[in-house]
Amino acid sequence: MMDIVSNMLMKLVRRLDPEDAHRLALDALMLGLGGGNGSGRDDPALSVRAMGLRFPNPIGIAAGFDKNAQVIRPLARIGFGFVEAGTVTPLPQEGNPRPRLFRLTEDRAIINRMGFNNQGIDRFAVRMARLHKLPAKGNGAGARVPVGANLGINKNGADPERDYPRLVGRVKHYADYIVLNLSSPNTPGLRDLQQADRLQAILQAIGEAHPDRPPLLVKLAPDLARDDIGPVIEAVIAGGAQGVTVTNTTISRPDGLRSPHAGETGGLSGRPLRPLAETVLRDVAQIAAGRLTLVACGGIETGADIVDRVRAGADLVQLYSAFAYEGPGIVRRLKRETVRALNAEGFETLADAKGTA
Ligand SMILES: Cc1cc2nc3c(=O)[nH]c(=O)nc-3n(C[C@H](O)[C@H](O)[C@H](O)COP(=O)(O)O)c2cc1C
Repeated sequence: MMDIVSNMLMKLVRRLDPEDAHRLALDALMLGLGGGNGSGRDDPALSVRAMGLRFPNPIGIAAGFDKNAQVIRPLARIGFGFVEAGTVTPLPQEGNPRPRLFRLTEDRAIINRMGFNNQGIDRFAVRMARLHKLPAKGNGAGARVPVGANLGINKNGADPERDYPRLVGRVKHYADYIVLNLSSPNTPGLRDLQQADRLQAILQAIGEAHPDRPPLLVKLAPDLARDDIGPVIEAVIAGGAQGVTVTNTTISRPDGLRSPHAGETGGLSGRPLRPLAETVLRDVAQIAAGRLTLVACGGIETGADIVDRVRAGADLVQLYSAFAYEGPGIVRRLKRETVRALNAEGFETLADAKGTA
């Protein structure tokens, strides 16, 4: 029944302005209209251990969908194996003027220049704290899954060496892991923080202020020059972080885009991002050589995509665009396809497949 409601909602969602559609999707999730995980427990072949955490399946909802930590539990109920809330900044901010979100339907892609619209860390932290106190419900649908907090800086008045440690302090008791977003193309100067020395300084400041922090990851842009990936990864490790998320959206425009919106300014995600995100993942995996947890993101829309990323070295995966196009049913489909793709390639579990490419 909930699935029927959810399918009808998705038809409506696709006809709306994309930002109104996102708002409606959040409202529907808050009302419990997202539907459930079906029969509950995930196939044990899909379970993952990483960063000292247990994930019932490797499929997470990427940052930016639930910027204000409002629908973490409903997203878990849909069947995601983990949920990343944010990006949240120290102070609330409006983001860029609308329109700032574009569906490239012909390309199965999205361009966004939202610009970290969010309600700020105060409200975010209250919601995370409340969720943390709730008892985990049941062992299947709606059970507790790892929750990440994705952190960013305001457009005006930012001081990254001050702001990131403060933000970490606000969520460290409630988040299972923390991500520093240094890769959004829509906050001027943010991506410069990926420079090795700058990055290491920020990570060290966090380490000194918060030795008791949960596992820390850095989210990287797919547009890093190949030669810069090595120093960035070494800085992540030297700074004491546990992992990286590869990747955020791209400012590049791959050949062959057909949508009339392809020329809009902002970060491109979805199907056309896949080759680039995969290439960067392979480079990162080679350099990290088992020293980091790798979260793969960018253009994932099938179980085969998931097995490909895991074979390339990913521990976990995330998606946003394919979820926006397909709706909650995608999670169940991806789990089913991943088990099938594993078996077709002669693996019993995800862990068997990891890094075999
Ligand atoms: C509308 C929109 C908003 C996003 N906002 C954020 C954000 O606030 N923080 C972040 O780290 N990534 C953000 N992202 C990037 C996604 O988390 C993800 O890295 C990217 O979309 C690639 O995955 P996909 O191809 O599955 O969409 C956003 C993406 C979209 C489409």
